[in-house]
Amino acid sequence: MDMKQAVSTRETAALRLARPALAQLQPFEPELPDLPIEKMERVLGKNRVIKLSFNENPYGPSPRAIEAMQRELGYLHLYQDSKGDDLRRAIAADLEVEPDQIILTNGADELILLTALAFLEPDDEVIIPSPTFGQYRASSLAMGARPVSVPLTDFRVDIENILQALSSRTKIVFLCNPNNPTGTVITQDELDRLIQRLPENVLLVIDEAYIDFVTEPSCACGVNSLAQRGNLLVIRTFSKIHGLAAARIGFGISHTPLINALERVKPPFNVNRIGQAGALASWQDKDYLEKMRKLNASNREYLYTLLNTAEMSYVPSQTNFVLADGKQDAAVVFRKLAESGIIVRSGTGYGLPHHLRITIGRKEDLTRLGEVLQNCRVSQEKNS
Ligand SMILES: Cc1ncc(COP(=O)(O)O)c(C=O)c1O
Repeated sequence: MDMKQAVSTRETAALRLARPALAQLQPFEPELPDLPIEKMERVLGKNRVIKLSFNENPYGPSPRAIEAMQRELGYLHLYQDSKGDDLRRAIAADLEVEPDQIILTNGADELILLTALAFLEPDDEVIIPSPTFGQYRASSLAMGARPVSVPLTDFRVDIENILQALSSRTKIVFLCNPNNPTGTVITQDELDRLIQRLPENVLLVIDEAYIDFVTEPSCACGVNSLAQRGNLLVIRTFSKIHGLAAARIGFGISHTPLINALERVKPPFNVNRIGQAGALASWQDKDYLEKMRKLNASNREYLYTLLNTAEMSYVPSQTNFVLADGKQDAAVVFRKLAESGIIVRSGTGYGLPHHLRITIGRKEDLTRLGEVLQNCRVSQEKNS
């Protein structure tokens, strides 16, 4: 048996030992848009890459968060507060809930997985609008539950379609508001309509990873809907507007009994000491967050003008990314941008083969993007 065969035999044996549900999943194999920027630069052989593929905050965290994290470096040999009481208290005070209505997690990703772990049994159905963020599906499959895809209408979550997909087996409805990758919002009226008709024994999860970028007043706010519904979990993250993606801090807001169910499966020290300190300082630096929101909104307008100039249409966004129609194979435009050192996300993985999801970067980076997109258009015209 050669080395390759031996590895494959071991893999088969390991999968036989694992729970059968895992056969439906693949390990996360990072492709170019998933790499950290320093690795992208190495792979592309460039000194500077413009990374517009992960919806990160290109300006980084608040200087106060950086100072707070640096102060923690001398205490890394000591375990941190397992539940992050200071951070939970600060969040709770601003959201007008109790601290025990909040759970801190290792990014929103961990909370999605813990939700699946706490609530899903094999063959439960999980309603997931499509296209949307992939972890709702992956976490449901990991528990042996059945994802039920509900198509968007005009790039927006369609409440009627969701209600029609309900069955006696439905355990969770996942909503992403605003939605990734479309950037569109569910309005408060739409959410109210869903809540009125959704059976109480279904858990409604609203992932608000991008809510801090929203400038549209009609957008629903999950926290405001807690009074209307027991089985409601709102997910937020410090990875986006707070610029703390690598510190890995997410949090959930719900009623205390639901948070207690999640606490039963939460690893005790899941949010590290540096992350907790950075998140607290960032949460308190309201001026910085407001500055980021305004900067993102003005850069978003700038990106629209660049897309118009490149004759690309786009879905108006309430987030820090824009879904643009490249009007040709997204893989081709992706490659041309990558050759120029700009990495965006192709829509192919979302079933949108002509679209690109572009993170709203710094203005100067968007200017460069605009130049390359313009060249893509010119060369497309020459070829036609
Ligand atoms: C909708 C949505 N939810 C959750 C996450 C994961 O966030 P975190 O970095 O907090 O795990 C992302 C990341 O891109 C996202 O787009």
